[in-house]
Amino acid sequence: MNEMPTHSKKLFIKTYGCQMNVYDSDRMADALAPHGYQPTGDIAEADLVLLNTCHIREKASEKVFSELGRLKELRDARRAVGADMKIGVAGCVAQAEGEEIIARSPVVDLVFGPQAYHRLPDLIARSERGQVVDTDFPQEDKFEHLPAAKKEVTIKRGLTAFLTVQEGCDKFCSFCVVPYTRGAEVSRPVRQVLAEARGLVEAGVKEITLLGQNVNAYHGLDETGRSVGLGELAFLLADIPGLERLRYTTSHPRDMDDALIAAHRDLAVLMPYLHLPVQSGSDRILKAMNRRHTGAEYLALITRIKAARPDMALSGDFIVGFPGETDADFEATLSIIREVGYASAFSFKYSTRPGTPGAEMGDQIAEEVKTERLYRLQELVNAQAAAFHQSCVGKTLPVLIERPGRNPGQVGGRSPYLQAVHLEGGADLIGAIHQVEIVGTGTNSLTGRLKVAAAA
Ligand code: 5AD
Ligand code: SF4
Repeated sequence: MNEMPTHSKKLFIKTYGCQMNVYDSDRMADALAPHGYQPTGDIAEADLVLLNTCHIREKASEKVFSELGRLKELRDARRAVGADMKIGVAGCVAQAEGEEIIARSPVVDLVFGPQAYHRLPDLIARSERGQVVDTDFPQEDKFEHLPAAKKEVTIKRGLTAFLTVQEGCDKFCSFCVVPYTRGAEVSRPVRQVLAEARGLVEAGVKEITLLGQNVNAYHGLDETGRSVGLGELAFLLADIPGLERLRYTTSHPRDMDDALIAAHRDLAVLMPYLHLPVQSGSDRILKAMNRRHTGAEYLALITRIKAARPDMALSGDFIVGFPGETDADFEATLSIIREVGYASAFSFKYSTRPGTPGAEMGDQIAEEVKTERLYRLQELVNAQAAAFHQSCVGKTLPVLIERPGRNPGQVGGRSPYLQAVHLEGGADLIGAIHQVEIVGTGTNSLTGRLKVAAAA
């Protein structure tokens, strides 16, 4: 870690999948920075290319193998001029298919899972002597060994930052590979989370999104060895001076406890936008998915959350075509969507994941049926998202202005409900929350007009 860079090497990380991978990619860059690796935006000049992969659905892993084919050409082009390119595969495909990747793609120098990121410099050194695979789940705490980014690097990444507080999942939904690729649930200690959050805020970050595969199952230990839940953690984070916004994702309905709901009631920094996947509205399918709650229980939970925070905007994930899903089951999903009214939603065709219970189930649904159901579902949620955006027109919302806009003289940021907002204004607005009157909607965004010079 104290090793001084001998000469600068160029690093390109391509990230697939969820925000946890985005966070991990940054941490890999941080682990390599002391060893002389500088990020580049041009893959063709990279000395090291890392693919941070996702295994959640079939297409995600197929993309990796086609990318490796393209990388071989780039590497050969570099070798032809006397340079080289090392190629590494990280993330969940690496974890799940380590040896197979090496066998299928001789172009790969190293394959390593999410628990090995702190060993990355060592793995690269070892790869000089041949292909390396590291997909162990070690006992040691990788976060203790991963260096933090320098302040200037942190703020260059943006005013909003991700912070992983929890990894893995013990829920074993029958469609999902996460419990196998990311392992059992582990929460980072409270002290570590608070220290990382303070570091981010001191570097200038205004908004933190806490991440975890099942983030609201967070149960980190405090200094006295007591288990602290996400609600209590939110209260502790809210005390950090300069932290203006706090979010978290992704949550399971079963772990939405009273303390977390109370945090939504009491904490102004905790943003009124909640990603709370239900996956299906049919109790039969929810049971087969091993979600461990019914549609009615989910709706009752939403009612409690809205009682605590009436303007809460909801987002969800939906799977269509789970094995055995009938037309009536699918209609129940549409019906729960109508009942909740989502501000945004992510929806997927069920994709068989080897090793999961869903893969063994009979009555797999035909592709055309999945396609048609997905289309109908997306029509509904798109209309709901448009209606939600429309309902904001005429309101004044606090917008964290984060970056220059698409056109000169414009800036862009996010509303409390995670909507992108564009407005006329100078770069001096960037970095603070401003009151913005919403005057119109675009595709997936809002347009606004600056109301007040600056919020406190
Ligand atoms: N097929 C389709 N969608 C899936 N998801 C997880 N596993 C699968 C699968 N096998 C979706 C779920 C989850 C989101 C991250 O991805 O909706 O909430
Ligand atoms: Fe997968 Fe279910 Fe765990 Fe979410 S809660 S990561 S869907 S097993």
